[in-house]
Amino acid sequence: MTKKSYYITTPIYYPSGNLHIGHAYTTVAADALARYKRMQGYDVWFLTGTDEHGQKIERKAKSEGKEPLEFVDDIVAGIRHLWDKMLITHDDFIRTSEDRHKKVVQKIFKKIYDNGDIYKSEYEGWYCTPCETFFTERQLAENQTCPDCGRPVELVKEESYFFKMSKYADRWLQYMEDHPDFIQPQTRRNEMINFVKQGLEDLCVSRTTFSWGIPVPINDKHVIYVWFDALTNYISALGYGTENDSLFQKFWPADVHLVGKDIMRFHTIIWPIILMAAGIEIPKKVFGHGWVLLAEGKMSKSKGNVIDPLVLIDKYGVDAIRYYLLREVPFGQDGYYSEEALVNRINIDLANDFGNLLSRTTAMINKFLGGIVAPPGEGTRFDGELIDMAKALPAKVEELMDKLEFSNALAEIWKVVNKANKYIDDAQPWSLNKDPEGKEKLATVLYNMVEVLRLTTILCTPFMPTIPEKVWSQLGISDRKDIQGWDSLSWGQFPAHTQINRGEPIFPRIDLKELELQEEKPGKGVPEDDKKKEQTNNLNAESFEAILPEISIDDFAKIDLRVAEVLACEKVEKADRLLKLSVKLGDEVRTVVSGIAKHYRPEDMVGKKVILVANLKPAKLRGIESKGMILAASHGEKLEVITVDDITPGGRVK
Ligand code: ME8
Ligand code: MG
Repeated sequence: MTKKSYYITTPIYYPSGNLHIGHAYTTVAADALARYKRMQGYDVWFLTGTDEHGQKIERKAKSEGKEPLEFVDDIVAGIRHLWDKMLITHDDFIRTSEDRHKKVVQKIFKKIYDNGDIYKSEYEGWYCTPCETFFTERQLAENQTCPDCGRPVELVKEESYFFKMSKYADRWLQYMEDHPDFIQPQTRRNEMINFVKQGLEDLCVSRTTFSWGIPVPINDKHVIYVWFDALTNYISALGYGTENDSLFQKFWPADVHLVGKDIMRFHTIIWPIILMAAGIEIPKKVFGHGWVLLAEGKMSKSKGNVIDPLVLIDKYGVDAIRYYLLREVPFGQDGYYSEEALVNRINIDLANDFGNLLSRTTAMINKFLGGIVAPPGEGTRFDGELIDMAKALPAKVEELMDKLEFSNALAEIWKVVNKANKYIDDAQPWSLNKDPEGKEKLATVLYNMVEVLRLTTILCTPFMPTIPEKVWSQLGISDRKDIQGWDSLSWGQFPAHTQINRGEPIFPRIDLKELELQEEKPGKGVPEDDKKKEQTNNLNAESFEAILPEISIDDFAKIDLRVAEVLACEKVEKADRLLKLSVKLGDEVRTVVSGIAKHYRPEDMVGKKVILVANLKPAKLRGIESKGMILAASHGEKLEVITVDDITPGGRVK
């Protein structure tokens, strides 16, 4: 029987600097999916790679006195190294600078040109170099800046080739109607459909102002627009249109392109239309995941506020990082990275729940059964519920994994892990051990625990690839491959009479106090107001502070709150969190130091009318006397200073 094929891709990454945890997020998700599908018996092809052309790379290389290829080679090596460390199991790694890729891009360009859907004209428009994207005047943000990244755009005018995207708008809309699952999650689908309903403009697909790119096959003064080039990687890597296109025959159309939400438009609109124009089938699904954010906004190489996954792997191990990334935030939504949350996941979910289950189970088998798993027999009244949950688990996990709901899949697994921990407390093996009639029940309880461990470990394998080996070793079944795979997920296959080997905890607890939290390191990030809007309130795991004890109105009247206008504001040297402000209230001007630097740039504060606790005893912060305190509201990682608009500075607030 031939296996069913499954083709999954990540975006190809820009080799313009080191990758951060946000990039690792996409790749870890893709890898978990690839491993899961392989375990299910699919013939999987998993592609990742690098997107090497474009003006941005050309300029960066030049600034370092290097040829573009020489410049990217080192970075690409670093990216490959990162994927090795993250245990990414891609089947191919494509570089757009490779000949096998360039040939295919040129071929498709030519094909579409010959069909009449690419034509030469003159381009005038706004180009954002960092984003490699053209914008029309009306798409620009304030002061002629890029609507995506907020940086200045350049007006370019040049002879260019255009792709007749406009012609395909109706066909695209029809396709989306016929394939309601193509764009996921649904919210992004609606966004894209609304965008196209406003009509599509033809797309400029060549440039003449730089040369680091793939030459236009009919005119080598031009290089092909970088997105046309980049998107094609998904089929050039399969040998589309070449003599050996067996991979293409087998794996295309892709089952899923996993991409960040910032590049959804390219993948769900431009890419399908390129394929339509070239007469190639459209992929089955594009899934747009959310962003990994820091308190100060989206992580970005150019802002320098990045978390290095290599550092985290060395500190906490690759399994824990992979688990955290996919467990913490529902796939599709934005979420905040924090090292504290990561450590909590390790200590609670991994060490306490899972690690402890293994440790308690093996300890009791040693103590009560001489280290040998006994066959189950008559059980306790607690068994039924646990066994039913464990039996139902694989189907639940599969359903969620197929929807790319990684976080929910893990949550389901942990429900069973926690149930098993509770089962120990309920069934009390230590009491059964003392009961002369209890031996058979004791054997059954411990057997059930071992079997829950076996099933949950199998289900965790796509997420935490090095864990199974450790569990199998402790449970004494390292050489029993036949009961370690997805096809052995049915209850009751653990072999009785197995000798276990209790070992070290598989997830040592991390002492938070001993940790120098990553966030204490100087963060160079600049908050971006527009990006802040993107930060959803993903605080489900968090509780609110308790309300303080009651006070009287007289107590409250002791607090003198005033409107104060910020006249000047600057950063406090060597203090990441502090801003120094000059504020005016009535005729008086005061200095106030406030811990809001992670949330506001100094220039954002000037002109604001804030609320000051005006009769607070002055305090010295970093040698600066601060007279009063500025009020701000906060929850989770978000903070907003309270302001008023129309009240004269000095006015009282009560
Ligand atoms: O966009 N959180 O490359 P890229 C989550 N070359 N995902 C993030 C992220 C974050 N903080 N930062 C980046 C490109 N990503 C193109 C792709 S595909 C034909 C060409 C994700 O290196 C981002 O959303 O800028 C994207 O999916 C991927 O990393 C690559 O980003
Ligand atoms: Mg990007």
